[in-house]
Amino acid sequence: MRRIETLGYPVLIGDGLIGAAALPAGRLFLVTDENVLAAGWPDRLGADFAGSLVLAPGEASKSLAQIARLLDALIDAGIGRTDHVVAVGGGMVGDVAGFAASILKRGCGWIAVPTSLLAQADSTIGGKTGVNARQGKNLIGAFHPPSLVLIDPDALDSLPARDLRAGYAEVVKYGLIADPDFFAWCEANGPALLAGDKAARLHAIETCVAAKTDFVAGDERDTQGKRALLNFGHSFGHAIEAETGLPHGEAVAIGMAMAFELSVARGLCPPEDAARARAHLAGAGLPVATDMDSARLDRRMAHDKKSGALVLTRGIGKAFLAHA
Ligand SMILES: NC(=O)c1ccc[n+]([C@@H]2O[C@H](COP(=O)([O-])OP(=O)(O)OC[C@H]3O[C@@H](n4cnc5c(N)ncnc54)[C@H](O)[C@@H]3O)[C@@H](O)[C@H]2O)c1
Repeated sequence: MRRIETLGYPVLIGDGLIGAAALPAGRLFLVTDENVLAAGWPDRLGADFAGSLVLAPGEASKSLAQIARLLDALIDAGIGRTDHVVAVGGGMVGDVAGFAASILKRGCGWIAVPTSLLAQADSTIGGKTGVNARQGKNLIGAFHPPSLVLIDPDALDSLPARDLRAGYAEVVKYGLIADPDFFAWCEANGPALLAGDKAARLHAIETCVAAKTDFVAGDERDTQGKRALLNFGHSFGHAIEAETGLPHGEAVAIGMAMAFELSVARGLCPPEDAARARAHLAGAGLPVATDMDSARLDRRMAHDKKSGALVLTRGIGKAFLAHA
């Protein structure tokens, strides 16, 4: 088992961790979604939950309406400030449960048990929680890190292939932005990872968690621009996601391909690097283009909170923050 504590709370990574790791004392309240519940992961934690709330799967549950429902259920169940919300699920569950915990009784603790590749490799680290507004993604939220993160790659055994691929886009992102060796590793080992190879997925998760921890450390509230590169492909991606309803990771894959294209068009990036990035994403079964018209894309991007600056690239592993 790997233990990372750089951010001030333990992040534990290891196969079989769900059901083996000790949970904090006090009462525990489960938040999950229907698919994750059906796959049995909350039960396998072996916790005696004092209350539970099951969200409908999908991005539509990342809403203030669901936050109101969740807070109502947790208060009804008698949650106290020393109790913990336990979020068992993908990025959606983590964002919603973490945000509810941030405002419940002016902030109560929560435990993250991410079950999708996207959540295990990326979203569970960094303390960002929140929901979507009519005007755009993640516009309502709070920085509220969990007190414990349990990453058990075995949970990916029940993750549908399309969701695994979508999460893989965020994995590849870490190679593309700042780690050309990891990108080369992805080219060599991505197919095995997507086929369920345990060593490959563990290595990818550990690498991404360590990389994200480095980006986040010292800039926990995202005010110093240290985390900016993590948004590579996300300005386009969020606009595409909002407009088309594609899963987050698929929209990010298209967004990263577009960021490469724009970097080539501006004479910043060798076309061969853009082609290599696109070929790997497409080879992993991810979309790399959209037929969404550019006027709609521009309108959507204007609503994206990250549109003030754009992350472009000088090549594989050489992302940088440019002005939009
Ligand atoms: N907070 C952050 O820093 C951050 C960073 C990146 C992305 N995000 C957010 O994360 C969300 C995307 O995360 P996601 O891709 O995990 O989406 P998700 O939570 O919607 O999960 C994708 C699908 O997989 C299912 N699922 C998850 N784990 C499963 C398992 N083990 N077995 C069976 N089914 C399982 C879910 O029910 C869902 O249908 C977006 O809302 C995005 O904005 C947040």
